Amino acid sequence: MTKLNIGNIELDNNIVLAPMTGITDSPLRCLAKSGGASLVYTEMISAKSVLHDNKKTKSLLRISYDEKPISVQIFGNDAYIMAEAAKIIRDMGVDIIDINLGCPASKIVKTGAGSKLLNNEKLVSKILEYVVKSVDIPVTTKIRIGLLPGENIASKIVKIAQSCGIKMVAIHARPASQKHFGAPNLKLFADACKDAEIPIIANGGIIDEKTAINFMQIPNCKGIMLGRGAIGNYSIFKKLVDFFNSGKKLSLPSKTERIIWLRRHIEHSVERYGEKKGLIVIRKIVGYYIKNLPNAAKIREKFNKIDTLSDFNKLLGFFELFDVSL
Ligand SMILES: Cc1cc2nc3c(=O)[nH]c(=O)nc-3n(C[C@H](O)[C@H](O)[C@H](O)COP(=O)(O)O)c2cc1C
Repeated sequence: MTKLNIGNIELDNNIVLAPMTGITDSPLRCLAKSGGASLVYTEMISAKSVLHDNKKTKSLLRISYDEKPISVQIFGNDAYIMAEAAKIIRDMGVDIIDINLGCPASKIVKTGAGSKLLNNEKLVSKILEYVVKSVDIPVTTKIRIGLLPGENIASKIVKIAQSCGIKMVAIHARPASQKHFGAPNLKLFADACKDAEIPIIANGGIIDEKTAINFMQIPNCKGIMLGRGAIGNYSIFKKLVDFFNSGKKLSLPSKTERIIWLRRHIEHSVERYGEKKGLIVIRKIVGYYIKNLPNAAKIREKFNKIDTLSDFNKLLGFFELFDVSL
């Protein structure tokens, strides 16, 4: 397992946590870091809202020291606004600015941002150039392989990105039309990596050593980015590092391990947001922790009705001891 340099930032390994809106908040990022992720990202943040000093945005930008090095991802479609937002964020002491060129959500696309930009090379160049020039920290971008199945827009965008001074490109190897589902397109990803002069990181469907190797054996693929496969399974980062160093096969996280992570997550979340909001935040993602466990749907329903930490802990204790029929 090699280290990964993004501009002047040297990461401990080349396995990173993906940005996920509503999921990768500060508590979760700390857990991923403790599980071995070398880099974590905030969820995408509107560049406009950074300039407007929006209250919710300020909260998204509250970063703890344990998360460093950290990348803050911004989205927008106005090069000037994005460059100004990047300056404000840089001044907060973050390590990397990432530009979202991949979000397929209709509310983002209809503003001309996210994956909508992939069709507009001129504007992509302008945004990347403006943001790179506005800050003295590395700027990266996260893109899609294309918009529709079989389409490779990434190759062109990688070339544009490197000519604009971008220091790394993360490619989600599913087309935007597929949102977050279906198989990544390894062949198109390999094509996009072919002539890259900057590090390319692979994303999409990485959940174990097999899915990781599929990408890592592609020439010029310098690292991998895990999204949903890391939630409630944070030691997957260390396990993948061990696998690439010594061939040690990955073990699946046990139910106990998942519950330990969930307990830690709840503690961090309550500490950060207070009991009421902390539990609401956790409720939204508890499904990822208990996925595939017996009675997951019923347990989730129970969690949704709980609004005190002590009741949450009681239910977890019960869940831990029994393969419950609730
Ligand atoms: C709930 C959710 C929110 C996401 N939010 C973002 C985001 O804010 N920025 C971004 O670049 N990608 C976002 N993504 C995409 C992920 O970063 C990643 O590309 C995707 O989940 C595929 O990786 P995976 O198959 O390992 O989960 C999101 C994905 C999910 C499931």
